[in-house]
Amino acid sequence: MDSSVEAPVLPADVTQTLLDSHTYADIERLSSTYAWLRANLPLGVARSRNFDPFWVVTRHADILEVSKNNKVFHNGDRATILTDRYTDLLVRYLRDGSPHLARTLAHMDDPDHRKYRALTSNWFTASNLSRREDAIRGIARGFVDRMFAKGNECDFVTEVAVHYPLHVIMQILGVPIEDEPMMLRLTKQVFGNLDEDLNRSGETVVTAEQGLMGLQAAVDELFGYFDAITQDRRANPRDDLATVIAQGLIDGEPIGAFEAMSYYSLVSTAGHDTVSASTAGAMLGLASHPAEFEKLRTDPSLIAGLGEEAMRWTSPVRHFMRTATEDYELNDQLIRKGDWLMLCYMSGNQDEAVFDDPRAFRVDRTPNKHVALGFGGHMCLGQHLARMEMRVFFEELLPRLTGLELAGAPQHSKAVFVGGLKTLPLRFAGA
Ligand code: HEM
Repeated sequence: MDSSVEAPVLPADVTQTLLDSHTYADIERLSSTYAWLRANLPLGVARSRNFDPFWVVTRHADILEVSKNNKVFHNGDRATILTDRYTDLLVRYLRDGSPHLARTLAHMDDPDHRKYRALTSNWFTASNLSRREDAIRGIARGFVDRMFAKGNECDFVTEVAVHYPLHVIMQILGVPIEDEPMMLRLTKQVFGNLDEDLNRSGETVVTAEQGLMGLQAAVDELFGYFDAITQDRRANPRDDLATVIAQGLIDGEPIGAFEAMSYYSLVSTAGHDTVSASTAGAMLGLASHPAEFEKLRTDPSLIAGLGEEAMRWTSPVRHFMRTATEDYELNDQLIRKGDWLMLCYMSGNQDEAVFDDPRAFRVDRTPNKHVALGFGGHMCLGQHLARMEMRVFFEELLPRLTGLELAGAPQHSKAVFVGGLKTLPLRFAGA
């Protein structure tokens, strides 16, 4: 293609909508913005005063192409989540020039990424996780019991969905039960740093600095906690994931302290907010689509499909950023070396070219080639665990649930990166 052609620029109001955290709490607005982009400007550049320009990638096929090509599209070179210029400078100042607050798999490229991922990839295979299924089922049953013990109404997010995956991942990591409330608080502060109902200060975030300071304080507190766990597991190994990480060797040398703390923090945070959001999303889908609920009750073999559809429909990870390491032609546009790209997973999951009636919630959608878990070398490490947690939960719940409806208006979090329902009032019948 002709390299002198200017890249198409998003209209200012569309860019503003994508940058505004309130948009992400309004799924209708977010979805219609993505639909407009897919139809009119599927690959355009967002320009605004406070952010470096970035490509907004909204089509399923383009998201797949970028995600698969980990050599050309890097995670580590620039911020992996949308970050304004001022925050970027502050992070680099706080972290000796690195654009990242932590050094997790999501911030690495090969060869390091492959080495660090290999430390735990066996742990996260479906076959290794199957030996934990009975324990996870026990936890799920406990939460289903707790739900019915409430009577016939509950706020499914705050009373069930946030606690179940948290308990599972903490057991897997080997974090004692008494520390779970602290982990829940810190995860909310990390992902909800822009939402005054979830963040550290409890105040409306006005400046980028406020958002970052809250985030950094939460990350540093997590690091302090996990540093103590590393010391403990080096001295007293156990059958848990914390031991696998603490004893991990990279090129024959013990994993660095910063990388170990980053690893735990990633698993502990990525490993439950997303599953909570998808599980709550599944309940919202069933409560607001009675015919789908009936389908599932009459054919429980659809439960695995329910999990996939919930991930697609909710797309809890809203985006990840990539940076081009060389010029690359994508969907007729020239992406230049150094360009920054935003992969909009929810948009890919609503792409009419791939999904029939994409906004509809259908438990029997097949095929369901969603990109909620990403794709390529960075595809979600915890995907088999996430699937198992949702399947087991609904296998326990559905035989006991005879009726389900909304008991109030659900609310989503104002989160540009990882988000979902923060309240879901439900009325239900069963025992
Ligand atoms: C429904 C639940 C989940 C969703 C929607 C989800 C989504 C994602 C997405 C979109 C990515 C980025 C993929 C990419 O860049 O191509 C990712 C990466 C990751 N996820 Fe998940 N995730 C979920 C559950 C989990 C769980 C349960 C764990 C851990 C226990 C986990 C751990 C990770 C890790 C460690 C990465 C980084 C992988 C890498 O960069 O190599 N996730 N996830």
